[in-house]
Amino acid sequence: MGLMSGKCGLVLGVVNDYSIAWGISEQLHKEGAKLGFTHLPDRDPANPKMSRRVSKAVEAFDPQMFVPCDVQIDDDIDKAFATAKETFGTIDFVVHSIAYAPLDDLKGPVYKCSREGFKTSMDISVYSLMAVCRRASELMPNGGSIITLTYLGGERVIPGYNVMGLCKAALESSVGYLAHEFGPRQIRVNALSAGPIKTLSGSAVKDFDKMLEMYNSLSPLRRNVELKEIGKTAVYLLSDMSTGVTGETLHVDSGYHVMGAPHTDASTEWEFPDRTRRGTAKRPFHEPETAQRRTRTTFVREACVPSYQQAAYVTAKRIGIAVVEHAGHYLIGLRGPDVPLAGYSEFPGGKCQESESAEACAVRECLEETGMRVAIERLLLRHVHEYPPALVELHFFLCHPECDISLAGSYLGFRWLHSTQLPFLQFPEANQQLLKLIAREAVGRVPRIF
Ligand SMILES: NC(=O)c1ccc[n+]([C@@H]2O[C@H](COP(=O)([O-])OP(=O)(O)OC[C@H]3O[C@@H](n4cnc5c(N)ncnc54)[C@H](O)[C@@H]3O)[C@@H](O)[C@H]2O)c1
Repeated sequence: MGLMSGKCGLVLGVVNDYSIAWGISEQLHKEGAKLGFTHLPDRDPANPKMSRRVSKAVEAFDPQMFVPCDVQIDDDIDKAFATAKETFGTIDFVVHSIAYAPLDDLKGPVYKCSREGFKTSMDISVYSLMAVCRRASELMPNGGSIITLTYLGGERVIPGYNVMGLCKAALESSVGYLAHEFGPRQIRVNALSAGPIKTLSGSAVKDFDKMLEMYNSLSPLRRNVELKEIGKTAVYLLSDMSTGVTGETLHVDSGYHVMGAPHTDASTEWEFPDRTRRGTAKRPFHEPETAQRRTRTTFVREACVPSYQQAAYVTAKRIGIAVVEHAGHYLIGLRGPDVPLAGYSEFPGGKCQESESAEACAVRECLEETGMRVAIERLLLRHVHEYPPALVELHFFLCHPECDISLAGSYLGFRWLHSTQLPFLQFPEANQQLLKLIAREAVGRVPRIF
């Protein structure tokens, strides 16, 4: 006998077998629940792609009902719950696993969100929970449990989550109010805050892959959650195991939400594994034919400069930058607000003097800025950055200290920071390519990831 034996309910939000609602349904079915499903209405009834896709995804869960429902249309929601009444009489639970924001509004910064985009996002992602709860409560004379899906971006600023973060904040607030309002009828309302899962909607979030990487390397469990784990927690919230829990936002995210700063033992070193990357429109860097390849390749990258910029490229100013590494830590300047480059973090480096090589410049600048003598191991990245109207040629060199150092020490305002801390700092824009490289490679070295 399963935890959900004798219980029946409605699941809103399966679009395919990657959906979180699908993972929840799988566990509910395993525990003996009787399930009804809704799906987005087909755009073209002659070609019912959506209903076919969803029905295929849920067929293994023995659906008791299967009806179209666009939560922006009241009539659709009414019909879905009328069918639930006909099918089940009364219900015990509802899974609300629905969110949407127009792509342009989701991708852009919050301040650029259009009024229409904001309304649509809030309507589908937040208001729908209230609309669903109202109908569901009428079919729950003996109490029940309703869950919705949320994300940490509703509590904190998660870059890239943008307007959906605002929706989740409103959704989580709604959960509290709904729990209060339905509590006397023993109807519980909770939110399950899931770690990132690669679903159709999830993939629309900017830098979603980066989010996955962050959870893998920075969460207390040092891994991301699996769909099955979210499903099991949903069973807990929907079953009699949690009858005393309501108004809660329960995180199923490997503990990521408790972290206030990245831990420092995630990775002890970084090197660039052997990979070949050719320039594309998206990635304007290529590994030149002359690049040395070893098991761990020395990565020399050059910018592919559009032809109209070639002339400027020749006369570009050169900057030598020392990326000083020691045991997975980097020497980073953390500038206060009262000095030039306010608020920026930076690697030691500066402009090459006349006839000075970029290597010599990086070593000299590092000595002048940090007081530390370093030896260059190799060129990491050559990158042309445009500071209109000029182009600047940045040479990043991987260096190591030539003296005894203390990781806790301060070097004229420069400090050692672990590679996993770098994404949390604010570097000048010109350093972003290098940081991506470091982040990608450093994170890739953390055991059991991605
Ligand atoms: N994927 C993640 O990383 C993640 C993490 C935390 C929370 N969540 C939340 O989980 C929930 C489910 O998302 P998912 O990641 O499983 O993606 P998904 O794309 O599989 O599910 C989203 C669902 O919303 C439905 N939907 C969108 N507009 C609708 C409308 N007008 N009417 C009815 N249904 C509509 C879609 O049909 C789809 O079934 C969302 O609330 C999402 O914000 C996702």
